[in-house]
Amino acid sequence: MQNFHYQDNALYCEDVPLERIAKEYGTPCYVYSHTILVQHYRDFDQAFASIPHIIAYAMKANSNLSILRLMASEGSGADIVSGGELYRALEAGVAPDKIVFAGVGKSSDEIRYALESEILMFNVESSNELKVINDVAGTMGCKARVALRVNPDIDPKTHPYISTGLKKSKFGISADRALEEFRFATSLPHIDVVGVHKHIGSQLTEITPFVDALKKIVVLIEALKAEGMNIRYLNIGGGLGITYSTEIPPQPKDLADAVSPLLQNIGCQLIMEPGRVLVGNAGLLLTRVLYNKPTEVKQFVIVDAAMNDLIRPSLYEAHHDIWPIQKKSHAPVHNVDVVGPICESGDFMAKDRSLPAVNPGDLLAVMSAGAYAFTMASNYNSRPRVPEILVKDGECYVIREREQYQDLIRGESIPDFLRQL
Ligand code: LLP
Repeated sequence: MQNFHYQDNALYCEDVPLERIAKEYGTPCYVYSHTILVQHYRDFDQAFASIPHIIAYAMKANSNLSILRLMASEGSGADIVSGGELYRALEAGVAPDKIVFAGVGKSSDEIRYALESEILMFNVESSNELKVINDVAGTMGCKARVALRVNPDIDPKTHPYISTGLKKSKFGISADRALEEFRFATSLPHIDVVGVHKHIGSQLTEITPFVDALKKIVVLIEALKAEGMNIRYLNIGGGLGITYSTEIPPQPKDLADAVSPLLQNIGCQLIMEPGRVLVGNAGLLLTRVLYNKPTEVKQFVIVDAAMNDLIRPSLYEAHHDIWPIQKKSHAPVHNVDVVGPICESGDFMAKDRSLPAVNPGDLLAVMSAGAYAFTMASNYNSRPRVPEILVKDGECYVIREREQYQDLIRGESIPDFLRQL
């Protein structure tokens, strides 16, 4: 769903013109639609209504406190990958008994923090991690609930950087060794093995890899149950793709229809970790044109947003549509590179893109920027991170302020021996 629409040639977020947002809050800034966020969550939840399930929103996609709070108020839990994410989730009011903790490198401190917070479970990625969780739980005199993340060796057919379910990836425990690892886990005194987890990659645009992976996991669960293990949860991860350009990804309902027959007889509660599909198309990055720079070989449009604000194009050569905030009739269309002010050739929002001619001062929207956008932002080139604005019922809410120059040096200090210079 897209709730960014043109009215008299001006682009709106819900019923607020983006021009007004730029005027009030400056550019660049992220803008999110409350209606779309809620709609996406409910669509997903509804699609799985007939199956008992927990949605653990993959907060790495967008971890703003208000977005988390909104998800939690709709009933969502959280899929976390760090102590910092746990802190955010708790601050936002996410119920600890709906939090699952994934990631190959959990530290003892993070494990202790999660146990103290009484999260639902750890998604464990190796036997060495199991030992550490067992030790930490032992010192605390408790048992840690865990699922083992199994790597089903299925090609999700997505960008290699966001593909996680192949044998060569660092994630999970290989399907061949899974039974052995589960036996080991059950032998540990401070571990309670409650589930199986898988997540094969992100931005999946086909349903088959989900189904193929799940088939392998179901066979495993049957084998584990045959050995007497009390497997109560099946976590199928996230990964459902969205439309950035011309992709037609499966809808949540398609996923539900495809996986539910496989879940009928296994007697597990389903956990899912959607991220991108909930927030990706609910946000855009609003940016202003600074310069046109025609050269002998190319035409550059230089904007005030850069790779530090949105790194997806640079990192994955990801496509994000770029829409003018004010459509001009009869504007000639040019083939341009839309680039930012950062001192790197890899700093671009779009390459060889056909765009209607723009002038300095014009506003552009980089679309589908609700997921893995602000969360991957940095201060590179000492650029303050940009604000995030949530639009609801005609009102704009600043859910993160623009950073100031002072924020850039927060925590830094100059030792005395350098002060004397
Ligand atoms: N669960 C686990 C264990 C994950 O690692 C991820 C994403 C998800 C769930 C959520 O996946 P989603 O539903 O959002 O596809 N920065 C990249 C995406 C990295 C995804 C990392 N893991 C990008 O901008 O495309």
